[in-house]
Amino acid sequence: MLDQPLTLPCGAELPNRIAKGAMTEGMATPDGRPTEELERLYGIWSDGGAGMLLTGNIIIDKDHLERPGNVVIEREPDADMAARLARWAKAGTRGGNHLWAQLSHGGRQTPKVVNPNPKSSSDVALALPGGQFGRPTPLTKDEIADLVQRWGIAAKACKEAGFTGVQVHAAHGYLISQFLSPRVNLRTDEYGGSLQNRARILLEAVGAVRSAVGPDFPISVKLNSADFQKGGFAFEDSINVVQWLEAASVDLIEISGGTYEQPKLMGVAGMEDEEAQNVAPSTAAREAYFVDFAKAMQDEVNVPLMVTGGFRTRAAMQQALDMGAADVIGLGRPMCLVTDAPRQLIEGREALPRYEDNLDLIPNWLGFLKRFQMMKAINGFAGIYWFYQQLWLLGHEGRVDEAYSVFKAFRTIEARNKAIMEARG
Ligand SMILES: Cc1cc2nc3c(=O)[nH]c(=O)nc-3n(C[C@H](O)[C@H](O)[C@H](O)COP(=O)(O)O)c2cc1C
Repeated sequence: MLDQPLTLPCGAELPNRIAKGAMTEGMATPDGRPTEELERLYGIWSDGGAGMLLTGNIIIDKDHLERPGNVVIEREPDADMAARLARWAKAGTRGGNHLWAQLSHGGRQTPKVVNPNPKSSSDVALALPGGQFGRPTPLTKDEIADLVQRWGIAAKACKEAGFTGVQVHAAHGYLISQFLSPRVNLRTDEYGGSLQNRARILLEAVGAVRSAVGPDFPISVKLNSADFQKGGFAFEDSINVVQWLEAASVDLIEISGGTYEQPKLMGVAGMEDEEAQNVAPSTAAREAYFVDFAKAMQDEVNVPLMVTGGFRTRAAMQQALDMGAADVIGLGRPMCLVTDAPRQLIEGREALPRYEDNLDLIPNWLGFLKRFQMMKAINGFAGIYWFYQQLWLLGHEGRVDEAYSVFKAFRTIEARNKAIMEARG
């Protein structure tokens, strides 16, 4: 049942099975500090009945934002930062739910406007048209050691501020996911080569976080079921990594998939053909595209799993719980407009809107343009920008605007990104 509590291995209890997935907010100050707008947004969500809210990307290195306007924790917070984090945590837990901080590093997916010379596992550039991302430089071993420590420092800062858990972001093609991918990680040292080596940075980050927060505090990892790319991180790899994470005392694995090159996380086709994975398809929960992976994963591990991506009907959510595929259901896009979707679902609402079906920047009569890679990429980003704009409105004005145009959202967010980067200097 969706309203059933879940006890995690560390002993903490989630009050129900619905969580809001991480969604980047872009509402920090130009130097990465939480704001009143973030407090408003998370207060609204906390009133919405979710058992757990995940923050959007909180970045552990100001030069590797996922997006202008990310919150940044790269060292022990000063008094102002600590107070801002505490106010954010207080607002985001006022409904009695959990609030977990997602700790991330953009790696080569850091946009050029933030940093034209990002660091990654190796020097493999993103294969995307448009020149939005710079060619990366490989991290040195000292730099890796420094980043690992920062995951711990940021986790401790969040715990002290009143967040009730943390999540290490190892999915979606960001830095740790770059290390996991044999396509992006060409290193020949102990951080590259075998899966064990490619997973080393992740396990070290989790170890640093566990030492920083102690045994009773929830730690989650968001992991790809697969990258869905030829020669990429495959489902068999993912199962192995989850087994290691379980042994490393992780409390909840969130299963997602894909990268910027292959945005399977949104259920969207990428630039290249999708690489099929070795998992038995079931007839279950079709709308939620990682459920079969989670089900196959559950047969191999005991750690609780959260599954995010595509859930829109209560029946599919219930089925994923009943068939033992998921312990927690993650909701993303619907929560940008229906902020109390968890309460409504628990009270019996059958289905949430599929806003994503009507968010083309390119009108139908120009559909042929989508054959061109550049247009496909812009169209994909614009749909996401529309959700960014809804979050912005919630944080600033406490309202959403379903009629907001996709085109306007695209222009508004691009202009806002530029303004944030100019203010940062
Ligand atoms: C506006 C927006 C921002 C997102 N930001 C993040 C993020 O910061 N971290 C993350 O792990 N996933 C992020 N995602 C992915 C979601 O957590 C989720 O995996 C995805 O939206 C699929 O779930 P859904 O079908 O319920 O939307 C974002 C998605 C959207 C729509």
